[in-house]
Amino acid sequence: MGSRARIKRIRQGKVPEHVAIIPDGNGRWAKSHGYERSRGHKRGSEVAEDLIEFVSNELSIKFMTFYTFSTENWSRPGREVSFLMTLLKEFLQKKQFKFMENNVKLRVIGDLSKLPKKTSGIVQRTVNKTTKNDGLQLVMALNYGGRQEILRATRKIIEGVKEGKTRLSNLSEEMFRSQMFAPDIPDPDLLIRTSGEERISNFLLWQMAYTELWFTDTLWPAFAPENLLDAISEYQSRERRYGQVKDKERNTPK
Ligand code: IPE
Ligand code: IPE
Ligand code: MG
Repeated sequence: MGSRARIKRIRQGKVPEHVAIIPDGNGRWAKSHGYERSRGHKRGSEVAEDLIEFVSNELSIKFMTFYTFSTENWSRPGREVSFLMTLLKEFLQKKQFKFMENNVKLRVIGDLSKLPKKTSGIVQRTVNKTTKNDGLQLVMALNYGGRQEILRATRKIIEGVKEGKTRLSNLSEEMFRSQMFAPDIPDPDLLIRTSGEERISNFLLWQMAYTELWFTDTLWPAFAPENLLDAISEYQSRERRYGQVKDKERNTPK
């Protein structure tokens, strides 16, 4: 099937509203080509650019969350961390115009305060600049960790109770969610992780309770829109039960 026909068929099915991505394998891709790791990150950022463009033009996905830098990634060599921070700055300097053109709204989850000033500055400016765009919402998880987010929410709730703004008896899933980085964003429908690793690595722990997981051996710098279509096709064939039973089996207890 040609690519246009495939896109058309996918559009007729249920397209996930929120796709979360762990773009892994930049280092291994570079190594396999005899390059430095940094070259893998550079190529990986270009792949992300192309995918964002593809999604905003072709699919009705409303939210795409990229695991861009984890709370654990600070323990990589200083040179690699600085390279990633500079790359992110350059990526946004270049892309902010494209985001306006494609109506993309940039959002961030994670703690920006630990990022170098020049990087957090451009992140904040791009978030502000694109705030009124109502197309694809591109969510970057930056200095993000699922455990950090849960602890932060817990702390905020305890402070609220101490200050008398809320009571512990009001604590519910909804109230807890309201203290997350981006409470208005629905939980991911689909998680894609590249590079053959089949783990969550501290990403969106609270939000992924019922997310469909899809893993591929493809390394991130080799990931193409076609691979995203593979993931969505498989997603469309899955049945999400949320702990319940299939509709047609509902009235036939054995
Ligand atoms: C993912 O690629 C990018 C980031 C974590 C920023 P890696 O750098 O983890 O690549 P591998 O896993 O070493 O191949
Ligand atoms: C997850 O990849 C984080 C990002 C892609 C930003 P890692 O490469 O850091 O994860 P592990 O160490 O393989 O679990
Ligand atoms: Mg990795």
